[in-house]
Amino acid sequence: MNSTQLPWWKSGIIYQIYPRSFMDSNGDGIGDLQGIISKLDYLAWLGIDAIWISPIYPSPMADFGYDVSDYTDINPIFGSLADFDVLIAEATVRQIKVILDLVPNHTSDQHPWFIESRSSRDNPKRDWYIWADPKPDGSPPNNWLAYFGGPAWTLDEQTGQYYLHNFLPEQPDLNYRNPLVVEAMKGVIRFWLGRGASGLRVDVIDRMMKHPALMDNPPNPDYTDGVSNPQSRFLRVNSEKHVDVHNLIREFRRTFNEFGDRPIIGEVDYSIDPQFIASYYYEGKLDGMQLPFNFALTMLPWDAQILREFIDKYDQAIPPGGQPNYVLANHDRSRIASSVGTEQARVAAMLLLTLRGTPTLYYGDELGMTDVDIDPADYRDPQGINLGISRDPERTPMQWDTSANGGFTTGYPWLPLAADFAQNNVAVEQEQPDSMLSLYRRLIAVRRANPALVAGNYHSLDTDAEDCFVYLRQAGGQNFCIALNMGSRMRSLALRGLGQGKIVVSTHMDRGDIVDLSALHLRENEGVVIQLAST
Ligand code: GLC
Repeated sequence: MNSTQLPWWKSGIIYQIYPRSFMDSNGDGIGDLQGIISKLDYLAWLGIDAIWISPIYPSPMADFGYDVSDYTDINPIFGSLADFDVLIAEATVRQIKVILDLVPNHTSDQHPWFIESRSSRDNPKRDWYIWADPKPDGSPPNNWLAYFGGPAWTLDEQTGQYYLHNFLPEQPDLNYRNPLVVEAMKGVIRFWLGRGASGLRVDVIDRMMKHPALMDNPPNPDYTDGVSNPQSRFLRVNSEKHVDVHNLIREFRRTFNEFGDRPIIGEVDYSIDPQFIASYYYEGKLDGMQLPFNFALTMLPWDAQILREFIDKYDQAIPPGGQPNYVLANHDRSRIASSVGTEQARVAAMLLLTLRGTPTLYYGDELGMTDVDIDPADYRDPQGINLGISRDPERTPMQWDTSANGGFTTGYPWLPLAADFAQNNVAVEQEQPDSMLSLYRRLIAVRRANPALVAGNYHSLDTDAEDCFVYLRQAGGQNFCIALNMGSRMRSLALRGLGQGKIVVSTHMDRGDIVDLSALHLRENEGVVIQLAST
């Protein structure tokens, strides 16, 4: 197996940038495209293959860019189309692909399409959004709830109808049962792929189609009043994921195909059901999205047996030719160092970068950045303000060096930096041979250099220690054994029949010894990548 023959999205590593927080070039406290451009050398040094940038389009920022008011321009906060072109050129020189975020489910309420749509019932764009009459008592058309609090419907007083918004009232849902909307969004896809994006991450892709009769959602049997999030009172079976979405996704894929092999990376429901995630590969037809995001590692308990069981089933559920993928964290979930602790975050990095599947890293996780405590009075995230579940803690500025504001900005940062930025930052960690950053860089380099780690088979092994997870990666005669101690006690594993091997990386960054796998010692919280004899 020669991994260089694979498309980049199968062999490469994706790095997510939350642009407001990555690097500010003009001192306004908010990151921007020139900031990203200035850090491309760092990303090339780290060894990643592609950056996915969360939305950079004009937006009133009610949901920090996930409320788009113009799909084919750049928000002046982030720069201009000319800056975007420079980004593509500079990234290309460094062999880094650029993936943008497409947000097709909803626009901003300030998008001209919505302004027209709400202007009158007979406006030609009325049907570009989902409008419905009030019930006879004036209440919303059905019981659907928005993710960010309250009903999913807002009454437009002037025209006397409600419009649908699965998120904020400032994020009205588009109507994909109208072919003109489908065509318009295909135009957006063509615009960015034509301008140099190598693929698109598609926001809430499974929510684009709703039940055509706008049926009520049924009650959620697991809901407990006063305990559960009030927004989960009903099962969202009619307000999203209508079966018709699959044809829409296939149609988007055909548009992508006009540009060759460029991936749709789809944000599907957060699920720990391998069959559910695998169902997006369309029974091996692979004519939908290439990479339906697998978020299970952000949700499962950090337990060797539970992770093994999921990964075994998921790996097997992916049809031939389909590409698995893994994510540890993102702008909507806790940072990995906060969810599993700093020590296990090193084991998590090894897991992510040695599994069979495209890894997506979240900016700053390579430094061991943690969620930052933010006073609720200072929340910026609407989910935090409305429901108390803020995503600000995982969106804080990247920590570049020991200077003021971690070198992120010369101004006042839009979110506070972590208190430990002077210790945990790129400049300091680059000099430390055993830092989290050095570990990430080493793991990335080892993965890139070894086809078995990029594209080899995955096969897990039984062990006598239930807090250890051990698996093999094999291709073309190359064999690796990855042994992860997910517990806080030293373990000795008897992995019979594997002979000897050489440790090529330890999470502790202090070993390169030859080991006998029939008596493999792992320190607490230690993971090792062992190269076995070739077969
Ligand atoms: C996705 C995004 C999230 C956003 C939401 C609404 O889940 O990842 O950040 O708030 O969609 O667009």
